[in-house]
Amino acid sequence: LTVALLFGGRSSEHSISCATAGGVLAAIDRDRFTVIPIGITPDGAFVLEADDPARFRLNAEALPRVADNGTRVRWPDSTKTRELTVTDADGTRSLGQVDLVFPILHGPFGEDGTVQGMLELVGLPYVGSGVLASALGMDKHFTKTVFQQASLPVAPWRTITAEDWAEAPGMAYAALEELGFPAFVKPARAGSSVGVSKVSTSEQLADAMAVALAEDSKVLIEAALVGRELEIAVLQGRPGEPSRASVAGEVIVSGRDFYDFDAKYLDAPGIDLVCPAALGEAELDVMRKLAIRAFDAIDGAGLARVDFFLTANGWVINEINTMPGFTPISMFPSCWLASGYTYPELIDELIDVALS
Ligand code: DAL
Ligand code: MG
Repeated sequence: LTVALLFGGRSSEHSISCATAGGVLAAIDRDRFTVIPIGITPDGAFVLEADDPARFRLNAEALPRVADNGTRVRWPDSTKTRELTVTDADGTRSLGQVDLVFPILHGPFGEDGTVQGMLELVGLPYVGSGVLASALGMDKHFTKTVFQQASLPVAPWRTITAEDWAEAPGMAYAALEELGFPAFVKPARAGSSVGVSKVSTSEQLADAMAVALAEDSKVLIEAALVGRELEIAVLQGRPGEPSRASVAGEVIVSGRDFYDFDAKYLDAPGIDLVCPAALGEAELDVMRKLAIRAFDAIDGAGLARVDFFLTANGWVINEINTMPGFTPISMFPSCWLASGYTYPELIDELIDVALS
């Protein structure tokens, strides 16, 4: 089978997507799959990339990036063919027929339904959620709205648009007072904690809004939750079979404000990831059921990671990620490894489900 691995992209999570692709390139079963690595530059050009996992290691000094190497990969121009072509200085040649696309992209223009829509349009099967679920999962305002509608527990929040902030900033200050301190200020459509700030006084709101509005024109103010931070991975079942949830992983924050970008990827101190988390069977069972309900509520497909807080008042769902990080230290693969899969088996499973 030939798999086109799509990574990089236009979002602020470009480098994380590259690192995720590096993890997949290193682990995918080469006896079973031919891989065509396709990078998307920050400007949105599709380029043929090196099939070299080592090129995409996370390194704080030089985050991996897709550079414009002058090649251009072209998608099929109708649903009658699955042939990809590449044009470079020597002309245009075929890359062969692809069986499936693995859009291992995080953030807007990749995890939000846009790339999924393009693949639907040209008739190529792909791993993961479709247009609607991707768009819902990317937008924290709509994720929470849909979860509330499905009677799933979410933290209270207010959504403030750039226009609201420019014309009536009092709305945001009032929301903050109402929600209480500390609170989180987050861009609605971003990931990996990019643009997220923790706010402990109203004086900090203006800076936090500026940081969040640099990522998106819509911002959420949320009450900070007190409790354990736990994450769980979901895999769609084969046709006729139910979806499954893994064991849980825990993010233990000590001596750090929150689980921010540097802690997620750059090995900054103050965070421990524990998988499997210490949870009783009954607690894990409730968490698993909530995770699968959350996956179904957005009409998820393929895979997701659902992030929770376990508070004194029970489980609260923080968010769902339809294309979670897959770097060697990421929670999604760790949770499945602790549930009995190997990394290559996990990739096989994602591809097999997408083709089933
Ligand atoms: N948005 C990052 C990649 C994650 O959810 O893992
Ligand atoms: Mg996220």
